[in-house]
Amino acid sequence: MYSREGFSSTGRKITVFDTTLRDGEQSPGIKFSPEEKHKIAYMLEDMGVDIIEAGFPAVSSEEFNIIKSINSTANRAKICALSRCNDGDIYSAINSGVNYIHIFIATSDIHLKNKLKISREEALKKIEHSINIAKDAGLYVEFSAEDATRTDMDFLIRAFKTAEVSGANKVNIPDTVGIMNPISMRNIVSRIKQNIDIPVSVHCHNDFGLATANTIFGVEGGASQVQVTVNGIGERAGNASLEEVVTGLAAFMNAKTNIDFSKIYNISQAVSRFSGMEIQKNKAIVGENAFSHEAGIHVNGIINSPATYEAINPEFVGRQRTIVIGKHSGRSSIEWILNKNGIKCSEDEVKYILEEIKSYNGKEAFDEDRVINLARNIIKIRGD
Ligand code: KIV
Ligand code: ZN
Repeated sequence: MYSREGFSSTGRKITVFDTTLRDGEQSPGIKFSPEEKHKIAYMLEDMGVDIIEAGFPAVSSEEFNIIKSINSTANRAKICALSRCNDGDIYSAINSGVNYIHIFIATSDIHLKNKLKISREEALKKIEHSINIAKDAGLYVEFSAEDATRTDMDFLIRAFKTAEVSGANKVNIPDTVGIMNPISMRNIVSRIKQNIDIPVSVHCHNDFGLATANTIFGVEGGASQVQVTVNGIGERAGNASLEEVVTGLAAFMNAKTNIDFSKIYNISQAVSRFSGMEIQKNKAIVGENAFSHEAGIHVNGIINSPATYEAINPEFVGRQRTIVIGKHSGRSSIEWILNKNGIKCSEDEVKYILEEIKSYNGKEAFDEDRVINLARNIIKIRGD
């Protein structure tokens, strides 16, 4: 359970299915190069992700080749390919060499009518036919009912039952347009769990900023797998973010994953660089400000005991605490920097440095180096 120093989960084991390379890459404007995809896949495997959705092979021959080569270099993680319910897509996935296929079809009336232009019964037939092909080829099949959360409940159960009877190994509930809340997500998962016997996964989008909470409550409802992306990248407002979900699962659900938390920050930085998507400064766990302190009262508390203003020890997630100097700083911040760098100043000199900082009008935070330079100038003038 939650403790500032780390988590000692003793509860259920939750499978982490990462879709940074598929749904994440569907973020407007992102295209990873083959090398970047390889590097991300390597880091995901190294940090303990169980299943990596490497892409959608039917998209292009380049995508097909990347999936094939990631699949041939992976060791422990299972490599998965996405496929619609059509023969061409399924054979592309089979030919890419993966043993794990993620087959999806939309089940909501909105999608059936406006996008697929087929009836509910036709959708059920496609589910059965597609899963049969994949199973005959010996693949592990995860089936997703796209737009599940806007699907009529009785029909959703029929769709998942059809998938189960056709041989699917797992079903996934996508909240495709992110319209759930934690309670409704918990309820839909527990309702599906009452009707089928294979494992249930959740895939939450972040249109209302609730993807992490919804994913965690999906687990509360009985899901044993979470679909996530690094930094929460993905279509529109993105997907549930890996770093928030795995730490939240450990902190609040006593749930175990295979994730090595100390590797979270490195992969977050790599995905940000490769995707060109900057991480919002105040993003939980991986944002620049997540373990930074400026206000005098906070810094005082942190100096006495970091637990005062930190939910978790930054080192636990591969981070370091920073003290930022600015308009809200107090004397203790200056003293902390000077002590850390072995610089001795009198009380009046510290006061003078603080006044200089407070009268600074620039937009950037006043960093440690500038404090040290100011102190050294004072020492020079005083002639020590
Ligand atoms: O959001 C979604 O519905 C998806 C499916 C392909 C699973 O990404
Ligand atoms: Zn999605």
